[in-house]
Amino acid sequence: MTRALVAIRGVSQHFGADGARVSALEDIDLEVPDGQFVSLVGPSGCGKSTLLSLVAGLRLPSRGAVLCDGEPITAPMPRKVGMIFQEANLLPWLSAVDNVAFPLKLRHVPKRERLDAAARMLELTGLAGFEDRLPHQLSGGMKQRVAIARGRCCASGRKLGRRCSS
Ligand SMILES: Nc1ncnc2c1ncn2[C@@H]1O[C@H](COP(=O)(O)OP(=O)(O)O)[C@@H](O)[C@H]1O
Ligand SMILES: [Mg+2]
Repeated sequence: MTRALVAIRGVSQHFGADGARVSALEDIDLEVPDGQFVSLVGPSGCGKSTLLSLVAGLRLPSRGAVLCDGEPITAPMPRKVGMIFQEANLLPWLSAVDNVAFPLKLRHVPKRERLDAAARMLELTGLAGFEDRLPHQLSGGMKQRVAIARGRCCASGRKLGRRCSS
């Protein structure tokens, strides 16, 4: 039997305390095999972003466990899990290619190598020719694509995306 790439086991997430307590997730089980594209669909406030933030290691569940490759996720794992946020969150003083290459710079990947990788990712997202543009010179959709390219550059494996509307 193949092991799930991401396994969510009996996960609950509560925010606040006592009277103000919000139950964002209750006893969630989910297994995501390698190679699958999975969408979480549900009304605003049903807990989609909370679940993604647990898989990204941005918070710990109140109960249960989240595993990646069988390993408990207790902190962000940028080499394994990339997160594409609702907002593009680009660094305004960096060009598109430098934004995409930034996570590799933090990992001390040599300049030529990281710029080549970033340019390839920009090409894949349809932004060849826009490498030197600053974020304010790009449309909203183009900024999102730069963020997607950065997410792909950052982690070779899994990507978590969040739709704009929720
Ligand atoms: N940091 C937080 N503190 C308190 N409540 C939160 C926090 N984050 C999310 N929530 C609440 O948890 C529930 C699920 O939120 P969220 O996961 O953002 O929903 P979705 O992404 O499906 O719209 C909502 O009721 C929201 O108000
Ligand atoms: Mg959301």
